[in-house]
Amino acid sequence: MNDIMQQNSITFLAQPGGTLQGEARVPGDKSISHRSIMLGSLAQGVTRISGFLEAEDCLATLKAFRAMGVRIEGPADGNVVIHGVGLHGLQPPPQPLDLGNSGTSMRLLSGLLSGQAFDTVLTGDASLSRRPMKRVTVPLASMGARIEATEAGTAPLHIKGGSVLQGIRYDMPMASAQVKSCLLLAGLYARGETRVREPAATRDHTERMLRGFGYPVQVEGDSVSLAGGGTLTATPIDVPSDISSAAFFMVGAAITENGDVTLRHVGINPTRTGVIDILRLMGADIEVSHERVIGGEPVADIRVRGSRLQGIDIPEALVPLAIDEFPALFIAAACAQGTTRLTGAEELRVKESDRIQVMADGLQLLGIRAVPTPDGIVIEGGTLTEGCIDSHGDHRIAMSFAMASLRARGPVEIRDCANVNTSFPGFVSLACQLGLKLEVQTGG
Ligand code: S3P
Repeated sequence: MNDIMQQNSITFLAQPGGTLQGEARVPGDKSISHRSIMLGSLAQGVTRISGFLEAEDCLATLKAFRAMGVRIEGPADGNVVIHGVGLHGLQPPPQPLDLGNSGTSMRLLSGLLSGQAFDTVLTGDASLSRRPMKRVTVPLASMGARIEATEAGTAPLHIKGGSVLQGIRYDMPMASAQVKSCLLLAGLYARGETRVREPAATRDHTERMLRGFGYPVQVEGDSVSLAGGGTLTATPIDVPSDISSAAFFMVGAAITENGDVTLRHVGINPTRTGVIDILRLMGADIEVSHERVIGGEPVADIRVRGSRLQGIDIPEALVPLAIDEFPALFIAAACAQGTTRLTGAEELRVKESDRIQVMADGLQLLGIRAVPTPDGIVIEGGTLTEGCIDSHGDHRIAMSFAMASLRARGPVEIRDCANVNTSFPGFVSLACQLGLKLEVQTGG
């Protein structure tokens, strides 16, 4: 079955109303799961991972490393065992590495593979093949990497092996953890120091995990640096639940009258908690409890109860800290009283879909005044009607509109939902368990 047929064949049909109640542990963190495979593969020794996200994006990373000769057992019930080959132990893959829908895989791997002795080709699905890659290929080229992309600067990426990389100092033009991580991973193979400065704080899992694998990383203010030529040492990894997956249920509980959901064991790394801050600014009732640190990452239980939400001007400093949660937050804004304004979020236009346009289109279709701007959106809270939404194959758009059904006047049909499996396997059954009236139709 080709990519497009597969994506078009899953439709969510959500009946209106209901409430969200109960407890759940959502699947593992996507960012940490990707990095656990990458660093575990490059480490010396055996890395045991628990809580691994068995979703298509992370499996694409796992398969890529298997194709480069790494022995990986599992995943079985979230457990993965990686027999690390060391920084210089990867083998040439027999064919191009297909990274599906996963931007994280492609951007991080482009850095790491620039330092190998062999050539590689990275490909992806239609969405990934449209996403900008110059943000990584340009700084990598200044380190000495040789990468060919399309004229538009998109995948497939042809990466030449055998390049001698030199550390650089790089001021990132956008706040991107993927670009930062890409350059740090290339930096492992570079001569001298690689230093990346970010215009605003972005998720710091790469830095934390490199240190967890015993690799020295310096963080000074807005810059992070490392020197090439070290080694990674295997370490156990316990992946917390993904706050980006929890966010759908946080919003769902917040927008329903008797909503009351507790999400257990959620990663609350401060570079990821913008969704909590933004919902609280809107008046949401959120309790964070049992805070603890597991494997270098803060984890907690998050309880959200239904409340009256108010529209707000979202502080720009919170944008990179909630970058994946905006589709869900826009649903909260549509259910709030008054106007919500988002600015400084042009990055949303280059995610798995153009999340500003696609969300504006969907909200308008459901009767909400939602005006897209070049770098954000203005949403007037109102009454959600019924309608048929096109998710454009974007997992987070699909799951966000599923939550909208809780407050809709009529059924909400959401097309092109197969990619929910890229980040959240089991979403539909968990959503139904907590109170959503969601049905899956295949073959449409
Ligand atoms: C990610 C970083 C973010 C995020 C993506 C995962 C990561 O992308 O949107 O889902 O794991 O580093 P950018 O860094 O491009 O904003």
